[in-house]
Amino acid sequence: MKFPEDFVWGAATASYQIEGAFDEDGRGESIWDRFSKTPGKVLHGHTGDVACDHYHLYKEDVALIKELGVDSYRFSVAWPRIMPEGDRVNQKGIDFYKRLVDELLKSGIAPAVTLYHWDLPQALEEQGGWLNRDTAKYFRDYAMTVFAKLGDTVTSWITMNEPWCSAFLGYGIGVHAPGKADIPSSFVAAHHLLLGHGLALQGYRQLNIPAEIGITLNLTPQYAVSTRPADALAARKADGFQNRWYLDPIFRGAYPEDMTEGLSCVAPAVKGGDLELISGPIDFLGINFYTRALVSADEQGQPQTEQPEREVTAMGWEVYPESLFDLLVRVHTDYGPIPLYITENGAAYEDAVEDGRIRDTKRQAYLEQHIAQAARALEAGVPLRGYYVWSLLDNFEWAFGYERRFGIIYVDFDTQERIFKDSARWYQSFVRR
Ligand code: FCB
Repeated sequence: MKFPEDFVWGAATASYQIEGAFDEDGRGESIWDRFSKTPGKVLHGHTGDVACDHYHLYKEDVALIKELGVDSYRFSVAWPRIMPEGDRVNQKGIDFYKRLVDELLKSGIAPAVTLYHWDLPQALEEQGGWLNRDTAKYFRDYAMTVFAKLGDTVTSWITMNEPWCSAFLGYGIGVHAPGKADIPSSFVAAHHLLLGHGLALQGYRQLNIPAEIGITLNLTPQYAVSTRPADALAARKADGFQNRWYLDPIFRGAYPEDMTEGLSCVAPAVKGGDLELISGPIDFLGINFYTRALVSADEQGQPQTEQPEREVTAMGWEVYPESLFDLLVRVHTDYGPIPLYITENGAAYEDAVEDGRIRDTKRQAYLEQHIAQAARALEAGVPLRGYYVWSLLDNFEWAFGYERRFGIIYVDFDTQERIFKDSARWYQSFVRR
């Protein structure tokens, strides 16, 4: 596998999934605090109250990142630490991220910062959350505060993580915070998330910060289950919903024309100038990749997801590495030229600790196979700049709580002990080769 010298190898996490310290140093409540404490929403009633206690153990964790030998660490800033009620600034929250960034820089690790990885201040949710257009403006103000405080220390900025998940899982079907279930309005939430991205991007450009900025999308290639025209059309629709609904406005300044239902849902929310903001030039696109989907048409011609053909991970997600290659080439061809990063890729498996060791051969194979497809894409001319493993640590996996382990480093949630899994040892030797 050939990678350029300056290819960025990294590992990723997100604030609510690892930090804990949910009520310390003035942190406000987030929609995930509220959601996880609502009975029946998260498996076993797990919450992020303590998580990996990273807020207190960040120095130890940075030492682990250094030991791992990666170039960059992607983490997210918790908006409710910076602005507990969504507007007023809490200096202690800023101080935490300054300490973290200092520690990273001292260790020679480039900080890649996500501004929104799903932990909206609950106070803003009370005003409608992402269904309220003002939330995009609050996001801009929050982003500007973080740019101003950390701007000269961060290597790359990611405005939003996976707006599809925030909008559809959070407001469309309610399996994520804030737990609202109304599909038509989830298109509005998606628009406001994208608008928040556009506004933050515009503000950022005025500051002349010498770092790169982009957005991260979860792109899932949709393959038709057969060559029947109805299946092909259904797969195209599923692609419109999952992928093009975000790619098109960002790169082409328009929602996809064939998505007529989505267009009628979003129309009232789109104001003049929004799409110009949303399609402001970005420096890179972040792609989170886990799996593909197999799609067929039901009797009404609507897309339905078929059972996977090959082995699945503990999430039930099919392991289909070739689709990462297909996706990278497709994004490059349809939306390029644009530098790409894989900002998340990884797998959950049931890990067992035996004699202090975690022999997670399946996770290691998953990573190796996907990295091989990334190399193939590079060879095919795709400007791929880096790859981040999801995740550095086992952590709070949203609606699955601590029941799904994605880390390459094992976390004992009773003692907070961390243990390098075999996959981490392999990644360590791979990135240092
Ligand atoms: C992505 C999320 C990330 C993690 C992985 C498994 O959708 O961005 O926080 O939960 O899935």
